[in-house]
Amino acid sequence: MPTKQPKNETTTAKATTAKAKPAAKKTAAKKPAAKKTTAKKAAKVEAPVEEKVEAAPEPEVAPAPAPEPEPAPAPEPMPEPRRSVAFIGSECYPFVKTGGLGDVMYALPKALVALNCDVKVIVPNYGVIKPEWKEKMVFRGSFDMDLCADGRSFYVGIMEYVWDGVVYDFIDNEEFFAGGNPYTNLVDDIPKFCYFGKAALAALNYMEWVPDIIHCHDWQAGLVPVYLRTMFADTALSHAKVVTTIHNLRFQGKYNIPTLKYWSNLPDSAFNMGALQEEWTEANMLKGGLAYSDLITTVSNTYAGEIQTAEYGEGLDAHLRHHSGKLRGIVNGIDIDIWNPATDKLLAAPYGVDDAIEGKKANKLALQKSLGLYEDSGKFVIGLISRLTNQKGLDLVSAVAPGLIDGNTQLVILGTGDAEYENNFRALENDHKGEVCAYIAYDEALSHQIYAGCDAFLVPSQFEPCGLTQLISMRYGSVPIVRETGGLKDTVEPYNMYENTGNGYTFDRYESGLLWDAINRAKTLYFEDRADWDRMVIRDMEKDVSWKKSAEQYRQYYLELTQW
Ligand code: ADP
Ligand code: GLC
Repeated sequence: MPTKQPKNETTTAKATTAKAKPAAKKTAAKKPAAKKTTAKKAAKVEAPVEEKVEAAPEPEVAPAPAPEPEPAPAPEPMPEPRRSVAFIGSECYPFVKTGGLGDVMYALPKALVALNCDVKVIVPNYGVIKPEWKEKMVFRGSFDMDLCADGRSFYVGIMEYVWDGVVYDFIDNEEFFAGGNPYTNLVDDIPKFCYFGKAALAALNYMEWVPDIIHCHDWQAGLVPVYLRTMFADTALSHAKVVTTIHNLRFQGKYNIPTLKYWSNLPDSAFNMGALQEEWTEANMLKGGLAYSDLITTVSNTYAGEIQTAEYGEGLDAHLRHHSGKLRGIVNGIDIDIWNPATDKLLAAPYGVDDAIEGKKANKLALQKSLGLYEDSGKFVIGLISRLTNQKGLDLVSAVAPGLIDGNTQLVILGTGDAEYENNFRALENDHKGEVCAYIAYDEALSHQIYAGCDAFLVPSQFEPCGLTQLISMRYGSVPIVRETGGLKDTVEPYNMYENTGNGYTFDRYESGLLWDAINRAKTLYFEDRADWDRMVIRDMEKDVSWKKSAEQYRQYYLELTQW
């Protein structure tokens, strides 16, 4: 699939005035051919009746009357009214994913479609998107868009793919997106996401698709609300309400004001202390986006509170306190079709609640075998799957890991990231061959096998806006051991030995001694009271970690914003 389209397909439309061009031709070509079905039907009708009678042998005993067919369950009525939403963000599973944002950009739109929303997801058409996906995309149109202060303009192509009721529009531009990974360094990323924010809005205008809600995700979409209320204020799009979701406040898209002014060409009025400006010389894309949004959400209730404090506010706590009236927390879910141990084709032995204990044993042995660990289903296997950055509490893990390896315990780490952590974990594996595996890579299939094959799962984060790995591990019956922060606090109920309730082990302060203690409490139950441990495994698998409730909450907020 060529990235750039021939000149004659390009309209020289300026950003805000881009006109829609019919893209019907190419899309229609992808529609399923109706012919074959008609031919089959016709063949059925024309089959000679005599032949059928001859072929049927006389039954010796009169067959029992066919049971009344069960009436198909009535489909749940769609909630009214319908709302249209454009999701704008920098990654989306399965096309491109570096972390949980990618999961959410895939699963939440799907859940919203089931709640009578019309959803478009707008993401960059990165070079790293695999050909199998690129081949499915259909060219929807293109135009040139003014971007920079000196009038430099750039090509914007729109490649479209419709899947499971969600429309994915990929913004195509080789200069910005061909380079591979979604994020490289701020020198490249600032211009890239200035371009992306404006191109996403220009693309909506071009397609003449005016959503009720424009839903932006993280700093990479930070300029969208700013553009919407300034340079796009006179377009039909300004009718839309804008929501920004903070997935991770640590990343904000900060750069010096002259550079951001040059690339965005946004009016000076947007560069004030209440919006894009921060300190004397700096501009902050997320800060601006939050100021211009009608609603700010973040991915758990606890994180919504935490980010208004100096400890977790990453320098934006005062700004967030100022906007606290429009700040809400909605906890993430996971896609329970993709993450389903009963149907997961990547597992050695899929399992459900009924055969979980045996199933998990089989997966543990398969995992140990594939990673070169001692094969013994009696060992306590601890998993960790993470970006290797200081957010994730890896210093605590490094501090306790050597002491954990006591002959009964194994540790499996899957992750990539900072060289310091990668090397520490490689060295740990080297010192404990057969008991520790540090698999330094991004590997989707192995992640499924670890979720299934381990007994306990570590998420000792310094901060965690929501966290998806603890949700996935519960779904796979691996007991989470987490620090009580952000979404970890909101989703993992501590085990209560007196009432036999709870889903995992938790600790509060960021101290290795407390992580050590939590892991040992887990080990004690595992080795000394397996029946209660197994009950917790089942409770975890039965916990509702789907998107259902949270998608409903998003929908309610969309409705509150759009009472027209
Ligand atoms: P974050 O977004 O901060 O990285 P989350 O817990 O929200 O953390 O989401 C992480 C997602 O990325 C999960 O789906 C997890 O399984 C996946 N993941 C993280 N690291 C890897 C890896 N090395 N290989 C495969 N999947 C990974
Ligand atoms: C971020 C956060 C993580 C959250 C994810 C999806 O990357 O670090 O906690 O689960 O976004 O919202």
